[in-house]
Amino acid sequence: MPSPHKTILAPSILAGDHANLRSSLKVIEDAQLDWVHLDIMDGHFVPNLSFGPQTVKAMRRDSKLFFDVHLMLDNPHRYIDAFLDAGAEQITIHVEPDYPVEATLHHIKSKGCRCGIVLNPDTPAEVGKPFLPLCDIVLLMTVQPGFGGQSFRHDVLPKIEQFDRWRQEMALNYRLEIDGGVDLQTAPLCTERGADTLVAGTAFFKAAGQRRFIQTVTGR
Ligand code: DX5
Ligand code: ZN
Repeated sequence: MPSPHKTILAPSILAGDHANLRSSLKVIEDAQLDWVHLDIMDGHFVPNLSFGPQTVKAMRRDSKLFFDVHLMLDNPHRYIDAFLDAGAEQITIHVEPDYPVEATLHHIKSKGCRCGIVLNPDTPAEVGKPFLPLCDIVLLMTVQPGFGGQSFRHDVLPKIEQFDRWRQEMALNYRLEIDGGVDLQTAPLCTERGADTLVAGTAFFKAAGQRRFIQTVTGR
């Protein structure tokens, strides 16, 4: 069922202009949106490299947007303080690599930063359940992480419903974020199942009809 939270569209700057990230941040601000999704990739956990804390810190100087940092790293626990120092306001960490997930969530929270877990498309929902009481947000990947512009994986839709049910049954209040292949067609499939935070790279930065897409997702 639809989420109790207001729907947020979080453009992924991975699809922005990497020769001029300031201009891409301005595109988001000019669209009257509040969040930017920052995809951090290490070339190990995912087969791509993006950018690190130094770049995030530089963007921080230019923008008042809410920095939603998605760590696609084998060892995210080693980089939490660097991204906190860079200005992250929310950090999501994957449950798949072998590192102390719960302790890392506690560490992020202890620094006053919002935290959450990320599950890849093939990771069963049950793997994320133990961490839910610690989460301000749960990020479900609807593509295999590493690249923008991939096709939405409809087989993840039941997982959205599952985390929405657990949110209700456990009386928790986490946001439910969807990331990968979100566009005019797939966004409603997510929100009608309880998702309330949608990441979009290609659909926001590279597709026609940006205004209509924003209107469809946020209703504003
Ligand atoms: C993929 C990233 C996504 C991606 C979304 O690894 O986590 O945030 O940038 O891009 P689109 O919306 O183009 O699928
Ligand atoms: Zn992402």
